[in-house]
Amino acid sequence: METYGCQMNFSDSQIVGSIMIDHDFELTENIADADLIFINTCSIREHAEQRIRARLREFKRYKKIKPDLRIGLLGCMAERLKEELLEQERIVDIIVGPDAYRDLPRLLNIAETGQKAVNVILSMDETYADINPVHTKGISSFISIMRGCENFCSYCVVPFTRGKERSRSPETIEQEARRLFDEGIREVTLLGQNVNSYQSEEGTGFPQLLEKVALVNPKLRVRFATSHPKDISDDLINMIDRYPNICKSIHLPVQSGSNRMLKLMNRKYTREWYLSRIETIKKIIPECAFSTDIITGFSSETEEDHLETLELMKQVGYDYAFMFKYSERPNTLAAKKYKDDIDEETKGRRLQEIIDLQQELSYQSNLKDIGKIFEVLVENVSKKSSDELSGRNSQNKVIVFPSQEFKPGDYVNVRIVSCTTATLRGQAIN
Ligand code: SAH
Ligand code: SF4
Ligand code: F3S
Repeated sequence: METYGCQMNFSDSQIVGSIMIDHDFELTENIADADLIFINTCSIREHAEQRIRARLREFKRYKKIKPDLRIGLLGCMAERLKEELLEQERIVDIIVGPDAYRDLPRLLNIAETGQKAVNVILSMDETYADINPVHTKGISSFISIMRGCENFCSYCVVPFTRGKERSRSPETIEQEARRLFDEGIREVTLLGQNVNSYQSEEGTGFPQLLEKVALVNPKLRVRFATSHPKDISDDLINMIDRYPNICKSIHLPVQSGSNRMLKLMNRKYTREWYLSRIETIKKIIPECAFSTDIITGFSSETEEDHLETLELMKQVGYDYAFMFKYSERPNTLAAKKYKDDIDEETKGRRLQEIIDLQQELSYQSNLKDIGKIFEVLVENVSKKSSDELSGRNSQNKVIVFPSQEFKPGDYVNVRIVSCTTATLRGQAIN
């Protein structure tokens, strides 16, 4: 199995892994050993799809050696292109959309006879709630809590590839968190395209769900992604504040600092509203870290719009950002209504300015942490030196410190002594 795209896709691959293991398959790390290759795909930007097509071309040599090898293309690209993909990518045997993974064993039976098999039906209620995903090694894990998105931001394919919003029952989420904790997991990330529209059938909203998971054990850290700024309620902010094990880090994609762009993007909030939410969070949770997503070069974006984005970034003082050039996606509202009229060079230059500014903001934020003490959840032995451990604090910053006495899963208090743009360094004090 190979996975591209967002955390949701990685979580889905663990569900697929579990379904296949139940049908007597085994996962292999070595592609040359595989009788079946699944590639879980992403359509968010054109570049993401191009990478996957290039990867499919590389699979040809495996099929040459092993003519019985079957290749399944899963996920968002399958959903977006459907049967069309079978003509474009002859090497693919099975096409499966994100809501049809339970059907994989049947589709595989068809593919084994040499026919092509497709299921791209989107569901109103599939949440895979009863499937125990196969988890990777390590101390953190994803828990998918809701699927789909109905926000229809004008640039975005996700509502088309992932379908209607639906939430998984709180009991199954809590059970999964409990089981993971018992297995040694110390950090869970609750996942959804828009977690704060979580709403269970019995009426549990996202703040209550967070509380249930936080109460599983005070030693279980709880994170969540992604939140849409329009739904960041006071209830949610207060809930994050109430439990020390709910991490003080919020990913709140702003996309643009210009009201005109936000309107064209159909983001349903203004710059002022976004900034006032940030102010409220800072007031209630002063230690909270912020990260964001930004799209540059959206249709008709002027230099002034761009400067407003830079200005907003400074005002918030983001700790981290994912930054992208606008990529027009077929059939979205933006593709139908607005021109992709910002040239590549301008997009590139604006993106670089945004990246440079974010580097500076991340560095400034890290400088402020020097001298502070953080509780670090140890994740692994540092890549560079086996005498060093690395982990993260509640704010999601990576902290490296020398030690031989702790192991992954331990909580250690660390005093920060120095930093780079990407990392804090410190000394253990307990
Ligand atoms: N549901 C999440 C994000 C999902 S996609 C949310 O709304 O926050 C992750 C990020 O990809 C988006 O936040 C956006 O910044 C970026 N993105 C989405 N569509 C894009 C496009 N057509 N071109 C460039 N970036 C895009
Ligand atoms: Fe896409 Fe907007 Fe939904 Fe996020 S909220 S997945 S950007 S449509
Ligand atoms: Fe990509 Fe689909 Fe995620 S388009 S970002 S894999 S929801």
